[in-house]
Amino acid sequence: MSNQKKLRVGIIGCGFIMKLTHTGTLERMDDVDVVAVADPIEENRSAVAARLGAPAAYADHRALFESEKNLDAVIIAVPPALHAGIEEEAIERKIHFLVEKPMTLDLDLGRRITDGAAKAGLVAAASFQDRYMDITDRMKEEVSRTDVGLIHATWAQDVAIKGWWMKKDTSGGQLFEQTIHLVDMVRYLFGDFESVFAMKTSGIVNKADYGDYDLDDSSTALFRLKSGATATFFSACYLTSGGVTIDNGIVALGRQRSFAYSLRRSLRVVTRSADLCYRRMNDSTFDSNTAFFNAVRKGDPSAVRCTYGDGLKSLEACFAANQSMDTGKPVML
Ligand SMILES: NC(=O)c1ccc[n+]([C@@H]2O[C@H](COP(=O)([O-])OP(=O)(O)OC[C@H]3O[C@@H](n4cnc5c(N)ncnc54)[C@H](O)[C@@H]3O)[C@@H](O)[C@H]2O)c1
Repeated sequence: MSNQKKLRVGIIGCGFIMKLTHTGTLERMDDVDVVAVADPIEENRSAVAARLGAPAAYADHRALFESEKNLDAVIIAVPPALHAGIEEEAIERKIHFLVEKPMTLDLDLGRRITDGAAKAGLVAAASFQDRYMDITDRMKEEVSRTDVGLIHATWAQDVAIKGWWMKKDTSGGQLFEQTIHLVDMVRYLFGDFESVFAMKTSGIVNKADYGDYDLDDSSTALFRLKSGATATFFSACYLTSGGVTIDNGIVALGRQRSFAYSLRRSLRVVTRSADLCYRRMNDSTFDSNTAFFNAVRKGDPSAVRCTYGDGLKSLEACFAANQSMDTGKPVML
């Protein structure tokens, strides 16, 4: 048990990802006190409050902010189209925040939040936890030792059957929801994008089978990086085959070495003399949340691997790709 003061933390959004990963990490932290949770769904807020021993559970973020006057930080895990007012209120009240990706579907709101948090000197982090994997550190090290020309990323799966996920105006589609982790990883490893040209496909899934469903079946986005490399991203949500013949993840071809990153599992590095495989061994959400709380303690907004503003650049890339899909024209970033 550490001697440092316990941080007073609030949870906003007690759904799938809060229960699946964040709650387990918070349970293991001695120096963090979850003092309140909020969720309009009673079952969700009660379940998370009970697991974390939180004394207060509110029906939404407004009630939480209104009643809890001494919060150090909040973790925000609400659906992407429901962020209006949440981060802005945290900024107003000088509360640090960690937000699940994709942090918003309103780019102007995202920019206002980035600026507001910076002006207030707050730690504002985006939960791109894959940046914290041990194999990500390995990839960064390997990437620094070669020139890369071609990058390819895939995230392919079956239709995601979940209310807000199933509509493009509430989830942004597969590129925003899942492939964005790979978009962010490519930016983190290889640098920023310069332009994108993207296309989408539909007609494979019979949308009527899924009720209120309007997502594209798949998309391909071709990005030019500022380094001159090119990166393609396959996004698919129509497969029922149960597996894909390309691993979900990233492959990158360098002059001196090539990489194959298998989504959240392993990294293969091939050189002229070796063919090495590294398995992921750490809990990246635990490490991401720990880095956030340490940054809050230090009062250092830069002490996280993905600030809200940095994460917003990955989101901007997805917006640009969607714009290109809709207009049929390349978009400069
Ligand atoms: N980092 C990852 O690997 C990862 C994985 C899954 C989901 N996510 C992201 O996490 C976010 C949440 O996804 P989910 O699958 O948990 O969704 P979910 O629908 O299961 O849960 C969201 C919860 O937020 C609640 N909510 C909505 N408005 C609220 C408000 N104003 N105040 C308090 N609670 C509110 C909802 O009632 C719901 O219980 C999404 O942006 C999603 O993309 C990230």
